[in-house]
Amino acid sequence: MILAYAGSSARNHTAEAAAPALDPNWWKGAVIYEVYPRSFGDTNGDGIGDLKGVTAHLDYLQKLGVNGIWMTPFSPSPQVDFGYDVTDYNAIDPQYGTMADFERLVAEAGKRNIRVITDLVLNHTSDQHPWFRESRSSRTNPKADWYIWVDGKPGKPPNNWLSIFGHSAWQWDATRQQYYYHAFYKEQPDLNWRNRQVRDAMYQMIRGWMRRGVAGFRLDAVPQLFEDPQRQDEKYLPGLTAYGDRQETRVHTDNLPEVHEVYRELRQVVDAVPGTVLIGETYLPNVEELAQAYGPNHDELQLPMDTQYGMGSKLSAELFRAKLRDAETRLNGNMPLFVFDNHDNRRSWNRYGDGKHDDAIARLIATLLLTPRATVLIYYGQELGMSNNDPKSVDQVKDPIGKIGWPKDIGRDGERTPMQWSASANAGFSTAKSTWLPVAPNYATVNVAAESDNPGSLLNYYRKLIRLRKENAALRDGDLRIVDETNPDVLSFVRSANGSTVLVTLNFSSSPRTVSYASAKIGIAGRGLTALAQSFDSAPPPASLDKLVLPGFGAYVGEVR
Ligand code: GLC
Repeated sequence: MILAYAGSSARNHTAEAAAPALDPNWWKGAVIYEVYPRSFGDTNGDGIGDLKGVTAHLDYLQKLGVNGIWMTPFSPSPQVDFGYDVTDYNAIDPQYGTMADFERLVAEAGKRNIRVITDLVLNHTSDQHPWFRESRSSRTNPKADWYIWVDGKPGKPPNNWLSIFGHSAWQWDATRQQYYYHAFYKEQPDLNWRNRQVRDAMYQMIRGWMRRGVAGFRLDAVPQLFEDPQRQDEKYLPGLTAYGDRQETRVHTDNLPEVHEVYRELRQVVDAVPGTVLIGETYLPNVEELAQAYGPNHDELQLPMDTQYGMGSKLSAELFRAKLRDAETRLNGNMPLFVFDNHDNRRSWNRYGDGKHDDAIARLIATLLLTPRATVLIYYGQELGMSNNDPKSVDQVKDPIGKIGWPKDIGRDGERTPMQWSASANAGFSTAKSTWLPVAPNYATVNVAAESDNPGSLLNYYRKLIRLRKENAALRDGDLRIVDETNPDVLSFVRSANGSTVLVTLNFSSSPRTVSYASAKIGIAGRGLTALAQSFDSAPPPASLDKLVLPGFGAYVGEVR
């Protein structure tokens, strides 16, 4: 779907004093697993996941090999946008548990060497947040300027700006007799980030979570933090959106230069505990803008998401080669953050799958994710081959954009269904009669219990690649060099460190391909190969660089001898 102020107040030493020590580099090359708490584990039988349900499954995550979990929001919320509409940033929504549950989750995760990253919804609050209630109560109250208020006449919004979730981005408020701006739902009014008090309130809140042992933050919708103060109209583009609005540019509302000032301030706040990481939800149109999000002096976000790499739907060796090259050469030596799946996009199984070779394609994607030099995000269930379980009719839809956009945009329910733990009722997610979203029908075979026992499962392929990322020096620390630059179907690269070299070769075609990398040609010493991982069992592993035969969509990882 979607989808340089450095004040002294940005520093705080109490956070440093109270928080546990962090390895400052823990996030470099880490595997970070996105947990959607509502759908991960339900321990109180209400059909909705909870914090104890995450704690209960930490052993599974440890065995998978993850270094961190990113938890999507669990603070009090009317749940219009399932937690991305916060009413109290410093508390836990009772449907997910208590602060003691959260503290226990952090402690138990820590015992397993898993860090906890929380979601920070900075751009907007819920319209039920006390700040907004106060702000909307008059034009003169102390928080009157905390949101984006503009005069106008009823029925005539100040300009043509559109909400990302459809229709005008302006909502008339009868009390103030003014419009407020909302980049997302009207129940999510945008905060005014030009207001110093807003910033300081947010930074104070962040320090509180650092004291609770949080090792980083995923910054929600940060390109949307600022809008053009002149409020100029956007230009119309051809065609209509899924919501039936005229298409238009978003140059006055997205990724304004001012966001970098806030990135630097946020970085100063988290640098009070070195190693606290900032992950950006940075849907950016090109690698230049992505590079800027790291900051000219590596002083902004450590890990802005590279949404260009895996968020598309076209399986093409040439395309992935170009993106890999961009990430290697155009991010100023910063660590790329690769991602294929999250709670806002159709699962990669459905986006990249062709309906015939889905399992092989899922392994190709796992290899594309886990073997380059990058920190990576895995979305719960991706490692099992979970697929979308989409609503069949509009009355089944829970996600409001699916109601607004049906049938062109069916919403995000399909990629948020319960985690599939076993073949028992509700896939082992919950003992409730029914769950908040229906469990996908394939849970009888696509589940943790079944796949754990099967050495050839996708889950065990993920486990193997994650283990290799830690144990193999070239995959862990090595640089990355693309070889076979012009092959239209096969993407190959080598990773090398301390005299050890690993070759990764990926066939993007549905039929077999043979490649030959005589060592001189790719500039590496040695021609023998020892398989470290391969996605197929139909063919014997290639023994030498002279001839590698890859089945359709085959992925091969081997050490050069
Ligand atoms: C981000 C979240 C998405 C949410 C939106 C508005 O894009 O990932 O789920 O709807 O922000 O908060």
